[in-house]
Amino acid sequence: MDLRPPRGTRDFFPEDMRLRSWLFSHWRQVAHRFGFEEYDAPVIESEALYTRKAGEDITRQLYNFEDKGQRRLALRPEMTPSLARMLLQKGGALALPVRWFSIPQCWRYERMSRGRGREHYQWNMDIFGVPGVAAEAELLAAIVCFFERVGLSSSDIGIKISSRKVIEGVLKQLEVPAERFSAVCVLVDKLDKLPREAIEQELELLDLDSEKVDRIVQTLSLESIDELEDTLGSDSEALSDLRSLFALAKDYGISDWLVFDPSVVRGLAYYTGIVFEAFDRGATLRAVCGGGRYDRLLSAYGGKDVPACGFGFGDMVLLELLKDKGLVPVLEGSVDDVVFAFDPSLRGAAIQVAARLRTAGRAVDLVLEKKKVKWAFKHADRRGASRMVLIAPDEWARGLVRVKDLSSGDQQDVPLDQLEEQQ
Ligand code: HAM
Repeated sequence: MDLRPPRGTRDFFPEDMRLRSWLFSHWRQVAHRFGFEEYDAPVIESEALYTRKAGEDITRQLYNFEDKGQRRLALRPEMTPSLARMLLQKGGALALPVRWFSIPQCWRYERMSRGRGREHYQWNMDIFGVPGVAAEAELLAAIVCFFERVGLSSSDIGIKISSRKVIEGVLKQLEVPAERFSAVCVLVDKLDKLPREAIEQELELLDLDSEKVDRIVQTLSLESIDELEDTLGSDSEALSDLRSLFALAKDYGISDWLVFDPSVVRGLAYYTGIVFEAFDRGATLRAVCGGGRYDRLLSAYGGKDVPACGFGFGDMVLLELLKDKGLVPVLEGSVDDVVFAFDPSLRGAAIQVAARLRTAGRAVDLVLEKKKVKWAFKHADRRGASRMVLIAPDEWARGLVRVKDLSSGDQQDVPLDQLEEQQ
């Protein structure tokens, strides 16, 4: 039998779990600091939640199956559809705005590369009910807050910012019908990833000839917001959104992190406005996180639209990045005391001592097997314990317990009822 986990998935041994918990606790603390509440949803959802018809990769990469009741189900590839479903369930009962976050495990049958697997954990923060770019600015500030906490700076990471309204504006000028918008965006997103001819063929099916594609490509390679103004005109919504967002970024003190880059389109169909992606300035890894505004997702599920924006931030690329930068923390095991009885007849005493220490809030590894003291010290070292608590016959008879500080080597005999004070 092959003992490895299925291709593209990971086992989390205790040392991996320490790192994962460390990361999640940063994500949770940042989200709480920004006033977000945590939610969750099932990892299995109805397949229909994801079968959008815009030709996205995420739909092709679905882990889907039929259950024993012949229902078509899928492992969630992302959290946003579940979030939309939950909000629709609450209908008008929910007081807006809503600021929610989650850390779901997501599943995609992807081609594997560095930082991309077939499952990943993805920090999501979303705001519903705020129409302007103030919501985007708040989300970007949270992302920057997280980067700074883990030791990354704006010279390591940039966040590319654009708006889908740029493409919308060009399509309007080219008189392409509005209902083709999402499908065009999904294809345009692939222009720098796949051979242009292949994408052009598909764009032609949407009535975009080579000349029109050229116009889009030209606009997406503009280098400044002023150039964008020349192309789209001064009354363009894309322009005013981008200008407002960059002005807010100044107030948040995060301007150094942001880069205007109209080539960012993103591969998901539902985005309607500002889109953004964090990237490693060393340019060795794929997007670190990504998100944007999606004001029309709820109506795609038959509900009433509510303005929305959010982002997803995966654990895998980030950990690769931290490794490259030497920023992965050294995390010790979490045992405070190892309790060891010299003699099997003192097992009951050791249990009492361990119980007292645990009640006092210490993490205690009680040696359960018959072992030599030398083994117990080695074991304490392996577990990274700070103290060894020894129960020896003569001392115990006098109500004493021997406590050895493992870093200083100091040793004292402590009365049982003072054990909790000796921390
Ligand atoms: P996404 O760009 O598909 O957006 O994914 C967001 C992030 O999840 C990526 O930038 C990356 O960090 C991580 N990620 C995605 N796929 C993989 C993979 N196969 N392996 C490792 N990490 C991966 C979304 O999923 C949107 N639902 C985000 C969002 C939330 N937009 C609005 N709200």
